[in-house]
Amino acid sequence: MTIGRHADIDLQGIVKTYRMGGETVTTLRGVCLRVYRGEFLAIVGPSGSGKSTLMNIIGCLDTPSQGKYIIDGHDTSRLNDNRLAEIRNRKIGFIFQSFHLLSQLTAVENVELPLIYRGVAAKQRREMALRALTQMGLGERINHKPPELSGGQQQRVAIARALAGNPPILLADEPTGALDRKTGIEVLAIMRELHAKGHTIVLITHDPNVADSAQRVVRITDGELMEERGEGRAAEPGVEDGVEEHLGQ
Ligand SMILES: Nc1ncnc2c1ncn2[C@@H]1O[C@H](COP(=O)(O)OP(=O)(O)OP(=O)(O)O)[C@@H](O)[C@H]1O
Ligand SMILES: [Mg+2]
Repeated sequence: MTIGRHADIDLQGIVKTYRMGGETVTTLRGVCLRVYRGEFLAIVGPSGSGKSTLMNIIGCLDTPSQGKYIIDGHDTSRLNDNRLAEIRNRKIGFIFQSFHLLSQLTAVENVELPLIYRGVAAKQRREMALRALTQMGLGERINHKPPELSGGQQQRVAIARALAGNPPILLADEPTGALDRKTGIEVLAIMRELHAKGHTIVLITHDPNVADSAQRVVRITDGELMEERGEGRAAEPGVEDGVEEHLGQ
């Protein structure tokens, strides 16, 4: 399927600034990062260092002030909002600290949501959602609503939602932050399993123990990124990417 190393995420000199009153606040200062297909990367850094800002850019939820972001071969600066939303839906599954489930919907309806946005027909949507929930060990809980589930179960529903459409990239911001230690360890084991199945995983955390699950760790400090552990292949210019990924593989 892939020839050579394929960069799923290619950030080139990303700068993010905000206007606050009369002042400009710089949150990301020229971040360069390549994440290759099948890598498990952790981004670590203290509170306020720019982790969530970077995650929002990687997840196409926000745009850089300067620099270029190429996701799976697509230059995001050339995409209009609709196309960007479509790329986001197909390429990325999101996992958040506080799960972000809709409490009035059942587990299976929550998992179906991104598939509805994608326009998948009802029957196929239900099948895909049930498959993802079963994979997460929640086959017996499909009609439960989030308040009727434990924190660990809710996070597994959220992971099922991230997985259901089979996106190549999983992006997790402090996925264990709201869980007790044992449940957090279970969720990290799931992330490692998904990595073993070929997903590209970007895990954002302030916790070095959580980052231990990753193959490669980069540290962000005051908006600047540094390789900390692993392959050290951040944004080498001239490395040729693999073939274009087919949507919905
Ligand atoms: N919309 C915004 N407007 C102005 N400044 C912002 C905005 N969003 C973030 N910032 C600033 O950017 C910096 C980085 O914030 P960010 O949320 O990325 O940090 P973080 O590393 O995720 O922190 P935490 O670990 O606490 O979640 C902070 O100083 C924050 O005040
Ligand atoms: Mg944050």
